[in-house]
Amino acid sequence: MIILGIETSCDETAAAVVKDGHVLLSNVVATSLAQHIQYGGVVPEIAARSHIESIIPVIEQALTDADCGWDDIDAIAVTYGPGLIGSLLIGVMTARTLAIAKNKPLYAINHVEAHVYAPFITDTKLENFELPRTQPEFPALALIVSGGHTQLAVFKGHGDYRIIGETHDDAIGEAFDKVAKIVGLPYPGGPSVERCAKDGDKDAIKLPLARLENSYDFSYSGLKTAVLRSAQKLVGKDFTLPSHELPDLLNDQQKADLSASFQDKAFEMLVEPLLQATHEYNPKSLIVGGGVSASSTLREKLKNVIPAPIFTDLKLCTDNAGMIAACAFYNQKAYLADPSSLSPNPSLTL
Ligand code: KG4
Ligand code: ZN
Repeated sequence: MIILGIETSCDETAAAVVKDGHVLLSNVVATSLAQHIQYGGVVPEIAARSHIESIIPVIEQALTDADCGWDDIDAIAVTYGPGLIGSLLIGVMTARTLAIAKNKPLYAINHVEAHVYAPFITDTKLENFELPRTQPEFPALALIVSGGHTQLAVFKGHGDYRIIGETHDDAIGEAFDKVAKIVGLPYPGGPSVERCAKDGDKDAIKLPLARLENSYDFSYSGLKTAVLRSAQKLVGKDFTLPSHELPDLLNDQQKADLSASFQDKAFEMLVEPLLQATHEYNPKSLIVGGGVSASSTLREKLKNVIPAPIFTDLKLCTDNAGMIAACAFYNQKAYLADPSSLSPNPSLTL
């Protein structure tokens, strides 16, 4: 079965073709990132406009790369939430139109759940992909760490999952993006903080690690504020100094130390809940997905404390449509949608 996946929840316009839920035939991603950088974050209107321009060429490229015509495509899968409403609308409307015009079944996919399905893709002829050799096994523990989500879930089977922990405030990727702004590093914050942290000392600045009542939960807003306060102190000012003045006052070493200390605590926050959940649920696999799982520092850290966590290729960690098509394949009955009425749901939850 060959599924065309479509993903437009944030600033990436993506289309991919996946065969039988595990063979990636094509993976095309266009991003409007460059247009957002000057604003330090994604501007929804710019993202939506860019999706309109890119969506058809991206889908055509995905079909060409996969060497597929419309006759070869058995179904279409699209992200319908969560995400930015203007962005989601373009993907959903395009998928609905194509499903009707080409007479294909349509699957409505939850973006966050789809991140868990990226490591189910184990095969491709495309160049430069490092994929897991075998698929995750159930029961699986899934840690989703992205710009919008930080969640820990137990998957008993496909579509059969329960959230056991989540963030009380900021998502981890969001905290990276905000700390990058405080320190004066470009968006997206994850990769730029990681780069800057390489020259810093993770023990240079004392930052707190939040302890929560439910030991599987996370919190990042206090840590982010502690970075702000430490930065103000480092430059000899008090809490009234506006954060936008910090990048000019901090020197390179201070920026590197702040980045390293923050990054260390942000990842440390994930370790305890993971260890405890591994102990309690005894999973056969631990899947780590979402944009932040592209961090090599996080990969190293988790590999050192947890037996065999499953990561996938960096290109399938950040937003892509391969994971959307894979998720659809394994949940066909549950996510079948009506192409004449499917609506995006920006605040869809797991
Ligand atoms: O999954 P994703 O592409 O989009 C959402 O669904 O949110 O995740 C984006 C997040 C951003 O916050 C970005 O800073 C972070 O993933 N990110 C990284 C890396 N690449 C992207 N964080 C750490 N290290 C990376 N290499
Ligand atoms: Zn994502």
